[in-house]
Amino acid sequence: MKTIRIACLFVIAALLVIVGRAMAVEQDQSPGAKLFVKYKCQTCHAVQSKGIGATVKAKAEEEDDGWDDDDDDAGSPDLSGAGIKRDSEWMHLWLRKKVATEKGKKHMKRFKGKDEERQVLVDWLLTLKTPVVEEPEKK
Ligand code: HEC
Repeated sequence: MKTIRIACLFVIAALLVIVGRAMAVEQDQSPGAKLFVKYKCQTCHAVQSKGIGATVKAKAEEEDDGWDDDDDDAGSPDLSGAGIKRDSEWMHLWLRKKVATEKGKKHMKRFKGKDEERQVLVDWLLTLKTPVVEEPEKK
């Protein structure tokens, strides 16, 4: 009887370790995050705070990801803090390439999904409020 109990405890402990590890790397599964991935935003953008980006970025360096540009990494910000300085109206216009940044640049990609999808995506982007520490330029 005692051995069974010890065996059970061992199994539970092992499961906790496995689950804990899975959770640490698991990517956000909310509808907004799924749309972000569905529309391939992560080919250019990481969202480190939500577990999005690192693997895809590493992959993008090996393979042609289908975007016709050489500078996927150059200037595509990690969007962990996308919701800090923007509001809903601006974000909708941005994704439709109808507004420019302070530097006069419009977005590289126009969002091609449905309006309802853009709504969900924008709502999710606006929840991203983890400040990103700028990395020094990679050469
Ligand atoms: C081809 C690469 C590329 C793809 C794909 C892409 N972006 Fe971007 N995005 C950029 C670049 C480059 C910038 C920086 C623009 C600048 O500051 O001049 C940017 C900036 C942004 C910003 C920050 C704007 C700001 O100044 O606050 C948001 C939010 C954003 N993108 C959302 C998205 C979403 C959502 C998708 C998917 C629907 C997406 N992006 C797909 C290249 C891309």
